Amino acid sequence: MPENTLTVTDNRTNKTYTLPIENGTIRGMDLRQIKTGAEDFGLMSYDPAFMNTASCKSAITFIDGDRGILRYRGYNIEDLAENCTYLQVAYLLLFGELPDQKQTREWVDKITHHTMLHETTKEFMHRFRHDAHPMGVLTSTVAALSTVYPEAKNIHDPENRMLQIIRLVAKMPTMAAYSYRHSLGFPYVYPDNELTYTENFMNMLWKMVEPKYVANPVLARALDILFILHADHEQNCSTNTMRCVGSSHPDPYLAVSGACAALAGPLHGGANEAVLIMLAEIGDKRNIPDYIKRIKEGKGKLMGFGHRVYKNYDPRARIIKQIADQVFQVTGKNPKLEIALELEKIALEDEYFVTRKLYPNVDFYSGIIYQAMGFLPEMFTVLFAIPRTVGWLAQWNEMLEDKEQKISRPRQVYIGHALRKIDGTKFATVKSAVGR
Ligand code: ACO
Repeated sequence: MPENTLTVTDNRTNKTYTLPIENGTIRGMDLRQIKTGAEDFGLMSYDPAFMNTASCKSAITFIDGDRGILRYRGYNIEDLAENCTYLQVAYLLLFGELPDQKQTREWVDKITHHTMLHETTKEFMHRFRHDAHPMGVLTSTVAALSTVYPEAKNIHDPENRMLQIIRLVAKMPTMAAYSYRHSLGFPYVYPDNELTYTENFMNMLWKMVEPKYVANPVLARALDILFILHADHEQNCSTNTMRCVGSSHPDPYLAVSGACAALAGPLHGGANEAVLIMLAEIGDKRNIPDYIKRIKEGKGKLMGFGHRVYKNYDPRARIIKQIADQVFQVTGKNPKLEIALELEKIALEDEYFVTRKLYPNVDFYSGIIYQAMGFLPEMFTVLFAIPRTVGWLAQWNEMLEDKEQKISRPRQVYIGHALRKIDGTKFATVKSAVGR
């Protein structure tokens, strides 16, 4: 018997099957040969929410959820956050290696020269309601770029694909900033090519009448590190959406828009906004025990806690906590921090959270920092979408080059009615209406 195999006996037929094991998985399609007879469709696995299904092979991001490890292309997230810029990490995710000095210069130059939006896109954004949520504006505007760059549909041409990737990485901060300025009724600020990626973003967000906006370097670097931490996270909900939408081969703008929509929900990227709402609702440290009691009674979730993959402290949350100290030295402490720290302390000692391995995730502290930096909570998920775009695109690129991938199309277990006939004496039918 070969070593890397699984032997399965079907007790319905007493037949035995030997299935190969590769990378700790069996192929779902290998189950199909397990049948009770010629008419039987064959065995499937039932896995709602993909709790135990690998949908692809990927060489981009590695997570060990039990040990709290996150790596991009083999590099620890802590190492990248300490030594690289976001754009270097974006290059790493896309091309597999960190750029040298010349490659960094060329890459930064390319991104910098694609930050402008077509004037019609600016006009398009201008037409949203004054109180439109920035995430809805961003999601819709990314989809609208599909109409501005019709050549983007040639997704099998790698050069064309790379041009759209550069455009998306470059334009996300511009669209994000415009969505913010729009919600405040301020005029849009055009990109400034002399600034770094995050400085330029801050310039487009906050420049008012001064001739040259100067970003605080500590805050610009903090934002850059936050972007690094959010750049990719293997097959999370929005990345899975990117791959799923992308698998039917639309252009990348439509697929990224789908991924943005998945990110917007409070169980995923929308959690950072939800954390701030929750902390405001708690209001005071004294109210925490009552709040925890309600959560344990099943009345809601502790936002920013828990993760499908991490069953140990989220390594990104640890780095974010360190950045918070640097940011607060510039901005002054966010009063919500005290509530958050106390909430974390109590939750980490509470049996309910300990037994379920619920630890703070990336969203628990990011919102507090963003708020201290001057962002409104409605912008938090947009701030997640900007850096995650490169992760989505790296995964999309990888998927398109993977010969094993096809259109994403899961199966279902049908549990509805067997065949029924319409009873014309009971319901108004077309025939009875014509007869009238
Ligand atoms: N507060 C209270 N209880 C929780 C929480 C929470 N935040 N998260 C999970 N639980 C409980 C569940 O009720 C369940 O309890 P039970 O076994 O008694 O039924 C148990 O812990 C297991 O949770 P699941 O829902 O099965 O875990 P799942 O992997 O499906 O969900 C998720 C992960 C969606 C992140 C969940 O933990 C959650 O909703 N957290 C709050 C929202 C949040 O912070 N999302 C951001 C995730 S990180 C990101 O996307 C960047």
